[in-house]
Amino acid sequence: MSVSQKNHYRPNFHFAPSDGWVNDPNGLFYLDGVWHLYFQYYPHAPEHGPMHWGHATSRDLVHWEEQPIALFPDASRSIFSGSIVVDAQNTAGFGAAEAERAEGAVPPVVAIYTAHDAAKAKSGGDAALAAETQAIAYSLDGGTRWTHYEANPVLPNPGLRDFRDPKVSWDAERGRWLMVIAAGDCVHFYTSPNLKDWAFLSEFGAQIGAHGGVWECPDFFSMKVEKVHGEPPPPDAEEKWVLLVSLNPGGPNGGSATQYFVGDFDGTKFTPDKQFTAPPNHKKNAAKQIVGKPLNNPTVLETICSPYAWLDWGRDNYASVLFNNVPDGRRVMIGWMSNWDYAKKLPTSAEGWLGQMTLPRQLILAKTSVSGYVIKSHLPSEFGGDLDPTRKIRRSGTLKANGPLAQVGIAPITTLIESGEIDLTRAIMRIKIRQMSPMGSYRLVFCNEQGERLEILQHNAVPGTPVIVNRHSAGEGDFSQNFAGPVIAAPIVPVEEQGLCCSETNFMIILDKTSAEIFCNGGERAITVLFFPNWPYTTLLYSSDVAGSSYAIEVEEIAL
Ligand code: FRU
Repeated sequence: MSVSQKNHYRPNFHFAPSDGWVNDPNGLFYLDGVWHLYFQYYPHAPEHGPMHWGHATSRDLVHWEEQPIALFPDASRSIFSGSIVVDAQNTAGFGAAEAERAEGAVPPVVAIYTAHDAAKAKSGGDAALAAETQAIAYSLDGGTRWTHYEANPVLPNPGLRDFRDPKVSWDAERGRWLMVIAAGDCVHFYTSPNLKDWAFLSEFGAQIGAHGGVWECPDFFSMKVEKVHGEPPPPDAEEKWVLLVSLNPGGPNGGSATQYFVGDFDGTKFTPDKQFTAPPNHKKNAAKQIVGKPLNNPTVLETICSPYAWLDWGRDNYASVLFNNVPDGRRVMIGWMSNWDYAKKLPTSAEGWLGQMTLPRQLILAKTSVSGYVIKSHLPSEFGGDLDPTRKIRRSGTLKANGPLAQVGIAPITTLIESGEIDLTRAIMRIKIRQMSPMGSYRLVFCNEQGERLEILQHNAVPGTPVIVNRHSAGEGDFSQNFAGPVIAAPIVPVEEQGLCCSETNFMIILDKTSAEIFCNGGERAITVLFFPNWPYTTLLYSSDVAGSSYAIEVEEIAL
């Protein structure tokens, strides 16, 4: 296979493997200036074969270097998803505690993963109820070479077909390890003094939250609530606990997605705030019901006040989990940029690789009077989220024309970025749209001369109506019926702290060759989508059906 064939769809700045298959991020941790990303990996073909843990490292969260494979499957078990902790006090006894370590020696790091026995899982019956157990492995060189613990499993299966994806972190308040693990369509909490002996604490999830599919890849952590928009919370800020749960299928726009709950944890039990509790067995596909309907429609209001909080409303951010051991306490996350609805069919498989990660995202917990607690997604500062004033294009204007919402190539349409001005396969942009009449529509179109286009639009630009992303004609899409299909919709809620006027929507959009990460209204809504244009997008168009619609855009190329 030639280099160009192999790289036609290869992202410019998102992590993807050189060969083989990738799904969930695993074992994210930070140590001594290095960010470690492990991932579900099958190196021999672009398919979900017996799972390994691949490994990549970064010093800046932007550039990733593939490392040797960390964990290998054997004849009876795959290495499914899990986490890694830095065992600084050597609680597991695999290395040495801080005080006893030689100068410069790294602390032991311990991986907690699901050992998945595919034969048992397929056999059905009772054997399937023991197919997934939790095991550990350790590394004494900071995460490169690993040894499996000889007395695995450390947590046997309690009799569930799905019992996997342990996320372990240090509970500093209680001086012990805390595990959250997917258990059927609930999660279980466990605790341990030494990563080897685990005691059950509680179950969470029955009758709460979205249950359209199996629960997977949970994460559980505390967060201080932001007091002033854009500023780190002060030490006395209110603290809440956040539970992330990936769900497949049953996402707001179909297939895989990650929901979150905000609440309190008493050391045993997690209690979500009232706003996050849901009626039993509520399986409605919320977003699809509200497309095009005005804000005062009861279904819309119900959706906006929905107890289901989605970390990302796009189709392509799944199994998101956070880095452990981040020294400044920031909550930084990476997700798998795909969806089980079509992950195995993506056209990159013809290039010998399949699967990529989202950019790292910093999560912020805010409290708004409209939505209560909300998790906002931001680009971490390492990424240079603040646009460099010397390298950016900046434009603003007001549309004079008025008329029906334009198709590409038909007036009224304004070109915000022209072919050749900036490389739209590695661009970061901020766009503000203000509609003088909130009952008007607008559309942003990324396109190429061949007519392939990705559209972002809003009918009636009042807060509450959804932002819609349409990738129907974005490029190759017929590889799976599930891919190009319906539009992707995310209801927008006003962010009153930002002083938004009622007809304003703001976006940060990060564009790679085959993906857009769209953060709306200060990151309150994230929408991540893949697309596969045959030619790169070169142009950004803007149209609106109301006179006086104004825009302001700043865009720069990401320095790679
Ligand atoms: C989520 C998931 C996990 C599992 C892994 C297997 O995408 O299904 O639950 O551990 O992928 O690759």
